[in-house]
Amino acid sequence: MAPSLLITRIGELVTNAADGSGSGEFAAIGDAALVIEDARIAWTGPAARAPAADDFLDAAGRAVLPGFVDSHAHLVFAGDRSAEFAARMAGRPYQAGGIRTTVAATRAATDAELRAGLHRLAGEMLTQGTTTFECKSGYGLTTDDEARCVALAAELTDEVTYLGAHVVPVEFAADPAGYVDLVCGPMLAACAAHCRWADVFCERGAFGEDEARAVLTAAMTRGLLPRVHASQLGPGPGIRLAVELGAASADHCTFLTDADVSALASSATVATLLPGAEFSTRQPYPDARRLLDAGVTVALATDCNPGTSYTTSMPFCVALAVRDMRMTTEEAVWSATAGGARALRRTDVGYLAPGARADLVILDAPSHTHLAYRPGVPLVHAVYQSGRRQLNDPPSAKPRGYSTG
Ligand code: NIG
Ligand code: FE
Repeated sequence: MAPSLLITRIGELVTNAADGSGSGEFAAIGDAALVIEDARIAWTGPAARAPAADDFLDAAGRAVLPGFVDSHAHLVFAGDRSAEFAARMAGRPYQAGGIRTTVAATRAATDAELRAGLHRLAGEMLTQGTTTFECKSGYGLTTDDEARCVALAAELTDEVTYLGAHVVPVEFAADPAGYVDLVCGPMLAACAAHCRWADVFCERGAFGEDEARAVLTAAMTRGLLPRVHASQLGPGPGIRLAVELGAASADHCTFLTDADVSALASSATVATLLPGAEFSTRQPYPDARRLLDAGVTVALATDCNPGTSYTTSMPFCVALAVRDMRMTTEEAVWSATAGGARALRRTDVGYLAPGARADLVILDAPSHTHLAYRPGVPLVHAVYQSGRRQLNDPPSAKPRGYSTG
């Protein structure tokens, strides 16, 4: 059994657990401590009342947060599309067809090349405080290529998503119905064992409502759980479909109708907002306030992909959500942690209370607010995953010190 660890003199401990579980809203304790035992949180509370433990870490007034839960990422691909990004910044609009460029590069890549890219991006995530991430396929689009993409993703995460229905590949341009049959049949059969989730890009230029329903229904009969890329480029049926199918999440939600907002508000489907995509495509940001004020559960995720959002940084997304989507700092941090956990139907992460997995971030800052207040600054001091320190940075012998009074 690993020795227990007491982390004390925490300037601000974000627990998201006012009721003792992760089901609540943002919650934080000042001048706090926590104890990790057997990969779980064993105790949280005021530093003055902390119990003894085998080992001890002085947080010196730093903030401690639950590890970020990035519930939407496309990490298995080859190549980059920086030229497309530059062209967009020069005034050209984003179109779904750019995905095919990455499909060609991914098909041409070896497993070792794809694995190296995936590990690099997962490593970037970890150094920025992400302790749980979802990873989609969707750049293979043949049975063999999708199967190897989900197998590679499953080497690093339990949250693997089958996205065979990302876009119709060129060889099926004249027969999109034939491609949907492939996605619902042999491709799904080859991928299902590695996947927990199925997703569809339900959008003009990708897949329509009936096609998306067919794919998700076929996946559900194999035990996969649905989630939907919905209303990213324009209003559409995706959000309504996500709610109809009981999806864990409708993602993007950039173009919302009143009916979309009320459907989400009266459902358990999370709206996952991906501000990195709006940043990188110069689209308007989704109306987070409208969703929050209607009572919709909101998650934030990176959407890391080479086309529309080539960032692995949850702190960057938190900063965008606060600055440009008018989320409060508390809402944004909750959505990037507990909200992401909801979007993945996880009850063990996204909060810090007895029983939760000991996944946490120590910031080189005294409060969560600094994530948005100091955009672009590497504030992650340490990351723990299941109670184990992950980054090579040793515990600082001489802490810098953030006075808590
Ligand atoms: O979430 N919308 C679909 N998929 C990605 C874009 C993928 C790409 O352009 O390569 C997204 O933005
Ligand atoms: Fe996406």
